[in-house]
Amino acid sequence: MGDSGQRHGLAAIGAVILLAASVGGWSWWNASRHRAEFRSALIEGDPGRAPDLVRRYGCGGCHTLTSVRGAAGRVGPPLDTVGQRVFLAGRLPNTPENLARWIHDPHGVDPQTAMPNTGISIDDARNVAAYLLQEAPR
Ligand code: HEC
Repeated sequence: MGDSGQRHGLAAIGAVILLAASVGGWSWWNASRHRAEFRSALIEGDPGRAPDLVRRYGCGGCHTLTSVRGAAGRVGPPLDTVGQRVFLAGRLPNTPENLARWIHDPHGVDPQTAMPNTGISIDDARNVAAYLLQEAPR
């Protein structure tokens, strides 16, 4: 009697842990998805123009971006999950506007950085930033 009560108790605790883990996992996934939508909504930009810009300005020669064909460079960090970074290039707090700023003018942020200014305009940098923030956290 006492023994089976204990077993039931353990089974109940196990069920609660499983339930908590699955609810937690789901809400984490959901929250990160919403964060991605939320973040890309924080910047005025047209993400649809980005793949072309990434090719035109040679980003893909230095960075890997899985969703853009041919973007497989290994000079700089991969951009697939850049939205999850706390600091951009270890220097700038990762906000949407700072992301656009970095893309437009990395040397204005730090003249020593190995990333060259590519000549991309601030508006096009915002288009790329919107795309990266939409793509990033999966
Ligand atoms: C010649 C190579 C080169 C080109 C071209 C280049 N980058 Fe970079 N990029 C780098 C390097 C190297 C870093 C790391 C810089 C640092 O930490 O100082 C970097 C850093 C970055 C970061 C910060 C990443 C992070 O994880 O913190 C972003 C975002 C970025 N580049 C986007 C772009 C985009 C968009 C383009 C095209 C407009 C581009 N880059 C073109 C080499 C390049």
